[in-house]
Amino acid sequence: VLCWFYVFPVYRLPSYEEIVDEVSRKGHVWQKNDTGIHVYRKLLKECCDPLRMFAVTKENSPMGKVLWYDGELYHSHTVSNETFPLFVQEPPLRRPLKRCVVVGNGGVLRHSGCGPEIDNADFVMRCNLPPLSKKYTEDVGIRTHLVTANPSIIEKRFQGLQWSRRAFVDSMRAYGSSYVYMPAFSMRPGTEPSLRAYHALADASSNLTMLFANPDFLRSVGAFWKGRGVHARRLSTGLFLVSLALGVCEEVTTYGFWPFDTAPGPPQSPVSHHYYDNILPYKWFHAMPEEFLQLWRLHTSGTLRMHVGACP
Ligand code: CDP
Repeated sequence: VLCWFYVFPVYRLPSYEEIVDEVSRKGHVWQKNDTGIHVYRKLLKECCDPLRMFAVTKENSPMGKVLWYDGELYHSHTVSNETFPLFVQEPPLRRPLKRCVVVGNGGVLRHSGCGPEIDNADFVMRCNLPPLSKKYTEDVGIRTHLVTANPSIIEKRFQGLQWSRRAFVDSMRAYGSSYVYMPAFSMRPGTEPSLRAYHALADASSNLTMLFANPDFLRSVGAFWKGRGVHARRLSTGLFLVSLALGVCEEVTTYGFWPFDTAPGPPQSPVSHHYYDNILPYKWFHAMPEEFLQLWRLHTSGTLRMHVGACP
């Protein structure tokens, strides 16, 4: 809680209205702070070693290694003949990645005109297989270098890939030749759909490269933010990606991170939860406003740039 004192001159967590007001007044001001960037990269390296650990690789997860699921207690997967060949050989990202953007799925992106700015970055990360059809291009861009895919999406949108895989493979073309990052070893029910997604892409000779999220990395990043006041059962996908980006990129900008129903002004107007729908998350699962405050603190200290308004 201590760190809020510097941003909000009150001895309690700010209300939503205060956050919206603060961002409305100061959101466009930003000054890069190389020291802050360096300090955060070092902190993240020490806790979580993002470059080496963010994905399961043949190097960090050899045959016989026990991967403990980070989303449930007492369950594990032992790397076997079935899973080992599916892992990439070594850490796929190489530093220095220069200008990275992390695109959240917030409704603030709608009518933002930020697409060209997003596409201009060197490395673009997106969350949860978001729609990138033509009607959104102007606002969210089209280029993708890494996209996360939750096993629950595979279950809901593609019937767990138990039947036809064509709709899945076709829809994945929107992400070009990016990495697909799946938390295959977070919850037990997620493992099989993730492995099926791997095989569906491999069988179709897709240009995409599947990466399985390393549960040790997800766990250590969760602990990192817990120590900084984010009390959620699980971090949001967006915060995992921001943590990865802060650990591996020279400069990080975020778009579409705005978990409130009023857009920062002027004028302050209603905004949907996602840029493509208004389906709200389970309230108890993530702590997005707490996460937002962490990101806002990083923005005000010049460690990352959070873009919440329209783009020029
Ligand atoms: O599955 P999850 O709820 O984590 O994510 P999502 O709704 O698909 O959105 C992707 C990410 O964008 C989230 O993980 C949040 O970090 C961010 N987000 C946000 O900050 N504000 C919103 N209104 C919606 C999403």
